[in-house]
Amino acid sequence: MAKIIGSIYRRALKPILFLFDAEQIHDLFTSVGILLGKFKATRAVTRWLFAYKNPRLEQTVLGIKFANPIGLSAGFDKDAKLTDIMPEVGFGFEEVGSITGEPCEGNPKPRLWRLPNLGSLVVHYGLKNEGCVKIAARLAAKKFKLPIGTNVAKTNNVACAETQAGIADYAKAFAALSDIGDYFTVNISCPNAYGGEPFVDPVRLEQLLARLDAIPTKKPVFLKFSPDLTNETVDALLNVCAKHRVHGFICTNLTKEKKDENEIRLKGGLSGRMVKQLSDDQIAYIYNKTQGKYVIIGVGGVSSAKDAFRKIQLGATLVELITGMVFEGPQLIGEINRGLVRLMDQRGYKNISEAVGTGEKNI
Ligand SMILES: Cc1cc2nc3c(=O)[nH]c(=O)nc-3n(C[C@H](O)[C@H](O)[C@H](O)COP(=O)(O)O)c2cc1C
Repeated sequence: MAKIIGSIYRRALKPILFLFDAEQIHDLFTSVGILLGKFKATRAVTRWLFAYKNPRLEQTVLGIKFANPIGLSAGFDKDAKLTDIMPEVGFGFEEVGSITGEPCEGNPKPRLWRLPNLGSLVVHYGLKNEGCVKIAARLAAKKFKLPIGTNVAKTNNVACAETQAGIADYAKAFAALSDIGDYFTVNISCPNAYGGEPFVDPVRLEQLLARLDAIPTKKPVFLKFSPDLTNETVDALLNVCAKHRVHGFICTNLTKEKKDENEIRLKGGLSGRMVKQLSDDQIAYIYNKTQGKYVIIGVGGVSSAKDAFRKIQLGATLVELITGMVFEGPQLIGEINRGLVRLMDQRGYKNISEAVGTGEKNI
């Protein structure tokens, strides 16, 4: 079934969809997803078409039960409107946001482009979202069928570019979401906001984490890193994190490194294939450096079971994606999970957790 859906998506649907502006198509998919999520029957059909379940993919991580290790990365469901349909598409978890202290229009359009030859998207959204108050109100009464990560960032405006205002803005979103969902991501790596990425500076990160430590929450906290950090900067940030309530890292966000004329022309950060190796390298570096002490969520350029398995073998316990699904189709999640079980079979693993950090090079 997945093969047929994938082939229809790639051969018939994608060529039409890719004729239109990428953000328009993204908005269309969001509307369809909201509709499919509303009714029991449409949820059941979606589940039948896409989802793959296998107890060998289940893990309990930091007290949270994941049905499988493949999650939707932040930025696809910015306003948390798709939490009813994503479990039926087959995801094991979903990260919503980034959510900021204040509502944010984002950068002027156009702000999303496809680079099919490079398997990447160019993203210049600038943290468009409805803000923490509205999103928290939407989610407060909801029961989720899958673990939800709430990804917080600082509002993309001139005022929040100042350090203390930026920290207050993060804190506002963090407090509003403190008992909603299952884990927090603190996004310090948006490449498209006023003032750049000030919290990759260890002194500023120290201040930010100290402020967030003071907000009570039972949810574990992840920090999302840029793939463009040097190992020296990663070391400095890890030292700061060791003193604070940080349980893990998300490796990685979009890259600003542009290598091709086509990319340089466009503002924004690159996803997909252009970030894959950088993300793999950072996962391996942090896993080895911290000896598995932190939970790592690997993200960047995953478009097959092998890609996901590689990130797991390098040290990621969980894996996220967006771009692979845009280029390959929504059946990709089931395909990856099915493929992970095959890769586990070849190695005699009973549970996916046995593959974490095994460091095998050629898979
Ligand atoms: C359209 C789009 C919007 C994104 N917006 C956010 C965001 O708001 N917050 C965030 O932390 N990451 C955001 N990201 C980065 C992704 O979460 C992910 O880290 C990155 O795209 C690499 O994964 P991929 O190659 O599977 O897309 C965005 C990515 C895309 C493609």
